[in-house]
Amino acid sequence: MSLLIDNIGSLVTNDQAWGGLLGVIPDAAVVVEEQLSGSGTALGARSRSLSHGVGRIAWVGPRAEAPDADERVDAEGRAVLPGFVESHSHLVFAGERAEEFAARMAGERYAAGGIRSTLAATRAASDADLSANVSRLLNEYAKQGTTTVEIKSGYGQSVVDERRSLDVARSQSPFTTLLAAHVTPPEFAGRPDDYVAMVIDEMIPACAPLASWIDVFCEQGAFDEDQSRAVLTAGQRAGLGVRVHGNQLHQGPGIKLAVELGAASVDHVCHTDDADIEALAASDTVATLLPAADFSTRNKYPDARRLWDAGVTVALGADCNPGTSYTTSMPFVITLAVRDLHLTPDEAVWAATAGGARALQRDEVGILKPAAAADLIVLDAPSHLHLAYRPGVPLVRRVMKAGVWH
Ligand code: NIG
Ligand code: FE
Repeated sequence: MSLLIDNIGSLVTNDQAWGGLLGVIPDAAVVVEEQLSGSGTALGARSRSLSHGVGRIAWVGPRAEAPDADERVDAEGRAVLPGFVESHSHLVFAGERAEEFAARMAGERYAAGGIRSTLAATRAASDADLSANVSRLLNEYAKQGTTTVEIKSGYGQSVVDERRSLDVARSQSPFTTLLAAHVTPPEFAGRPDDYVAMVIDEMIPACAPLASWIDVFCEQGAFDEDQSRAVLTAGQRAGLGVRVHGNQLHQGPGIKLAVELGAASVDHVCHTDDADIEALAASDTVATLLPAADFSTRNKYPDARRLWDAGVTVALGADCNPGTSYTTSMPFVITLAVRDLHLTPDEAVWAATAGGARALQRDEVGILKPAAAADLIVLDAPSHLHLAYRPGVPLVRRVMKAGVWH
């Protein structure tokens, strides 16, 4: 079964063989093919959650050269892009923190300790409630064009609660991260080193089979350099890749530690010195920028222009969580990245698609070329530039995940 998406006004491929950063093809077409193995749903069937089906891209190019297919959809001159790739989210939680947000907007500062209120609510919630929250938020992400979502644990901070958080996450996304050291939980108050020892001796062995990555919040009020290194290297010994929350609220050791350990990504990166930028530029570690968190905390924005110009690989994420960034909108993040972080619209779109894929070390998403995942979005606009040019307007018209229209 194959589907021709025809009459695309402007197609972002992210395949630089087509020229430029985004490999844009004007007057384009795409052919999607369902692989017959597996249990994929027929093309065109409706699915309410992000399924991980088997649809692949079979062909992209100028529409005049498009091959025949079993079915045809007319994009009527609209833009088509790869689905957004979210490499940083915290969806396994209960409750919300609207009052904390309101207090911040009235002048309070954000501090890592706020995480503890979500921790208490999450521990008290049932598995079914946690699962329903994850699927609600994944549905929000999908409606706004995001087809891949990494999900962190981190609101349990006990062996039992981190395990069930990862179980819930893993049932809905293949990309899961054990955020083992997010905040010291109340039963370890004043004893962060004892908590770190428990993480290393008990939590990581119990949780590593449920995750691909280990993460820490390396920050004043959370975990210091030595504690972070101890947790991350224990994760590595258990076979996990490394991600780091670094340099979000203060200048600190997170970026250099991430580079030292060969992390896939260091995230936030708001406070940087020359050595941080040099280290990142000379490494394979992606800098994942989360400007919606900085927006909602009135934090300093990262110096994205400097990072990009230094040659650092930059990704953008929405960082959906109930504390610092209760949004699932990658178009909003692109708007912020262009308006306030001074990325060009092309750079911001690349960072929200191909950049996210780099941060997850995946080459089948964030790109539209033969054999890549058939994860794409149709915009109610003639080009990707409209994502930043028309802020706040719901431009995502259709979303396809693995060959299935959402
Ligand atoms: O990415 N920085 C640490 N973790 C989250 C916020 C967690 C919270 O406040 O609940 C973040 O911003
Ligand atoms: Fe985070």
